[in-house]
Amino acid sequence: MVLSQEARQDDRSSGRTRAPRGGRLASKSGCEFISEFAELFPISVFLDLMAWPHEMFDRFREWNFTLIHGEDPEVRARQLREITRYLRGLIAERRGVVTDDLTSVIVNAQVDGWPLTDDECLGMLILLFGGGLDTVTAVLGLHFAHLARHPELQDHLRKHPEDISATIDELLRFLRTGYEHPPGHGRH
Ligand code: HEM
Repeated sequence: MVLSQEARQDDRSSGRTRAPRGGRLASKSGCEFISEFAELFPISVFLDLMAWPHEMFDRFREWNFTLIHGEDPEVRARQLREITRYLRGLIAERRGVVTDDLTSVIVNAQVDGWPLTDDECLGMLILLFGGGLDTVTAVLGLHFAHLARHPELQDHLRKHPEDISATIDELLRFLRTGYEHPPGHGRH
């Protein structure tokens, strides 16, 4: 199945995009941030970027979780075979179908005048799938933990949304894995 731009738009407007992009959470007074937002949001953006079907959202979520965090090697191996089989199907579908999404760019790319092989495409898709989701979940968790601990920063950003972009850059720069260090006693 190849999703056209229009079909993808329908997909989103029909509410099948699972990740809350702000709206669904705005009416709530609180949430479990990681499972209700940070795990979902990057998948939703990634599916749009790659033009992979949102109907598969839950499968992609499970595959990604198992690939990165799975502890049972047999389950990981089985799910890796499932992902591989699925992506090979996708590669076959997208060959020769040139659209503006990243999957199409990869599958229809040429290097020195030659198309990429199925294995090369598969390697790139798995690299992006494995590298582009859990990283963002972890960084969102760090950033929003910082915001939760600094309500004055939240207030500032609500009043000055023009500072959000620079704040994200700054949070990316100084919030690394040692968040537990108090200011002045660690990696700040
Ligand atoms: C805040 C989120 C992210 C963080 C913290 C992060 C972090 C990193 C780091 C530390 C590396 C290794 C760089 C190196 O070897 O020097 C890397 C590589 C990579 N990342 Fe990310 N990443 C993030 C988001 C993403 C996303 C969204 C994608 C794709 C959709 C992605 C795709 C990749 C790929 C493909 C590589 C390998 C590049 C190569 O082999 O040269 N990353 N990332």
